[in-house]
Amino acid sequence: MSANPLEIQSLTGLGEAEIQQRIVAAKQALGERLIILGHHYQREEVFRHADVSGDSLKLSRRAADSDAEYIVFCGVHFMAEVADIVSRPEQIAILPDLAAGCSMADMANLANVERAWRELSQVLAVDEQITPVTYINSAADLKAFCGRHGGIVCTSTNARHVLDWSFGRREKVLFFPDQHLGRNTAFNMGIPLQDMVVWDFDQPMGGLTREQIRGAKMILWKGFCSVHQMFKPAFIDQFKARHPETKVISHPESSFEVCQKSDHVGSTEYIINTIRDSEPGTRWLVGTELNLVNRLHEQFKHEGKFVHFMSGTVCMCSTMFRIGPEALLWSLENLVQDKVVNQIKVPETEAGQALLALNRMLEISP
Ligand code: 13P
Ligand code: SF4
Repeated sequence: MSANPLEIQSLTGLGEAEIQQRIVAAKQALGERLIILGHHYQREEVFRHADVSGDSLKLSRRAADSDAEYIVFCGVHFMAEVADIVSRPEQIAILPDLAAGCSMADMANLANVERAWRELSQVLAVDEQITPVTYINSAADLKAFCGRHGGIVCTSTNARHVLDWSFGRREKVLFFPDQHLGRNTAFNMGIPLQDMVVWDFDQPMGGLTREQIRGAKMILWKGFCSVHQMFKPAFIDQFKARHPETKVISHPESSFEVCQKSDHVGSTEYIINTIRDSEPGTRWLVGTELNLVNRLHEQFKHEGKFVHFMSGTVCMCSTMFRIGPEALLWSLENLVQDKVVNQIKVPETEAGQALLALNRMLEISP
């Protein structure tokens, strides 16, 4: 059974306190049969119910380790797909609101990646020369594509290890969908910008010449996260002019210019741990999603740490925000009645091939 918006809507009439209390009661009723995984970008009213919170890598591992019958994923669609793929067949992955997608993940699909592969094969021996690498923020069929073609998945935590692995096998990488994670990681490994090209999936041959393709080491898909493109280098300069002692920390989905101006670049979990381990009195300017930055501000203000958001405008991930407490309550109360709603199930063959690429990643991740 999938989302019934009317049923969810009927819960919005309840008071916040009642919704919260019923979520707690449903969790208690389900006990060890349930695990709720929560990404750091979830809003507070949902995040507080997570049994495990984390970045994409940590949550994938927890999904793989869990014995729970139901894995309720408070995150976005690709994360619930990964939970389904890495868990055992009898376990059930659930996304409380099916509209919680990832706009960046949607920038690559199997049709345009296969077209790119075909076009690249006119210039290169693709299966010998190019490792396809997909960011975990991608649909399961793209992970399966990587599985079939000797490729691999990466997250923002392990992108460097994954690129080392990939270049150890083949001379070039096709990296999708996020050009920024690909560029920032490759540059930090010593690959100069002139060895990277951007593949424009709306253009024949990615808008590139044969010479550009032959000369490139990194072929970067023209995808991006609109939330992380809100962060601008000028904001960092202005902020530091007022507070020169500021440490800047950004997620690698941010632009090259922002990452170059940052003292630290890493995943959401890395950002949390770095701020947690810093000295009292440190001032941080943080380039990642607003719910997480607000939480960090609240968590660390008592230790005398100052946590600021890297933008003057409110920029949240609107799809992460789709998971509201009403949707969480609706999915849990259905489970209490032994009704599964919003199950995310990846077809078997696709899941098997995607698992190959995910396992390659999990094996080499630190
Ligand atoms: P993390 O793996 O760092 O949590 O990032 C996931 C994501 O979607 C960031 O936009
Ligand atoms: Fe996708 Fe960006 Fe939202 Fe992350 S913040 S889930 S990359 S849209």
